[in-house]
Amino acid sequence: MTELQSLPLNFRTVSMNESGTKLRFIDQTQLPNKIVWVEMDEIEQVWQAIKTLAVRGAPAIGVAAAIGLAVAAGNIKAQDYAEFYQQFCRMKAYLASARPTAVNLSWAMERMKRTVLLHKNYELRTVKAALLAEANAIAEEDVACCRAIGENGLPLLEGCRAVLTHCNAGRLAAVEYGTALAPIYLAKEKGRDIKVFADETRPLLQGARLTCWELQQAGVDVTLLCDNMAATVMAQGLVDAVIVGADRVAANGDVANKIGTSGVAILAEAFGIPFYVAAPGSTIDMACSTGREIVVEQRDPAEVSELWYQRPMAPAGINIFNPAFDVTPAKRITAIITNEGVVRQPLAENLAAMFGRKK
Ligand code: MRU
Repeated sequence: MTELQSLPLNFRTVSMNESGTKLRFIDQTQLPNKIVWVEMDEIEQVWQAIKTLAVRGAPAIGVAAAIGLAVAAGNIKAQDYAEFYQQFCRMKAYLASARPTAVNLSWAMERMKRTVLLHKNYELRTVKAALLAEANAIAEEDVACCRAIGENGLPLLEGCRAVLTHCNAGRLAAVEYGTALAPIYLAKEKGRDIKVFADETRPLLQGARLTCWELQQAGVDVTLLCDNMAATVMAQGLVDAVIVGADRVAANGDVANKIGTSGVAILAEAFGIPFYVAAPGSTIDMACSTGREIVVEQRDPAEVSELWYQRPMAPAGINIFNPAFDVTPAKRITAIITNEGVVRQPLAENLAAMFGRKK
């Protein structure tokens, strides 16, 4: 693993190096204090980077896993296709096990597997080249999808002075633009300023560390608040809309996203504020009927009690509840902004019309 220091202004969060031998990304565990670029080519390193949230956010996880798998598969030494396929499938299953909730991970892994199967009768170097091309295509599509989410979402924010967002669904969570923050970036490009209130997002502080950092870098007016202050800014009439990302959208419109999102949706409903979810097609899981089927990742209790503190902030041995995501029921969502268009209520019917019944 090599570390590179420096920040190009128009950076891509996740990419492949030019020679197609390394996965490259900005290490999000170091932000906002240090900008560290990391390169790697071993499957165990990629698994670890996803698990520890060095690379995180549903679209970025999918892209990083695809590139990581492609570069690692490039180093597979096999006598024939059957041996290559066996080793490839082992790597693919291992990477897919890093985090369970964001469907983009398994979606990207399935695309990579399809590529290998489509090249069954080719030389191994052709299969390897096809994997690199597919991983790059997934990355390029992510940029285009996020841009389209921005275009589709911006009209919904007509007349909107400020939005509230939870966690980080900006460029750090994708390749560029992000999902929830894409309309904000597009507004900025068009000379319009939309202010952002960013929930700090306990326990891993993606809002404070990442959303605030990337919006500040982009010159967007952003104000950080603790999660328990959202009701106060809404009550004061400071928020015109809520916009968040998603890790998995079920066919009925239920949405898994960062823990705390469902509470924000309840507040938005109580204060009569529209609640928008922004997600690319790769996050929509038409094979998952409802939010009840979504596996929610449970994480290390130490993230709650000690990760950010000089000494533990809870008594030793205390029971700690640390689910990484929650599910917002479809009925609380005003609309889902996708790259294909805006899905309004009734979400189940309109998702099926846009994305088909089964993927
Ligand atoms: O645990 P994380 O930081 O990967 O969780 C990220 C989120 O919940 C995001 O809101 C979601 O992945 C959408 S990112 C465009």
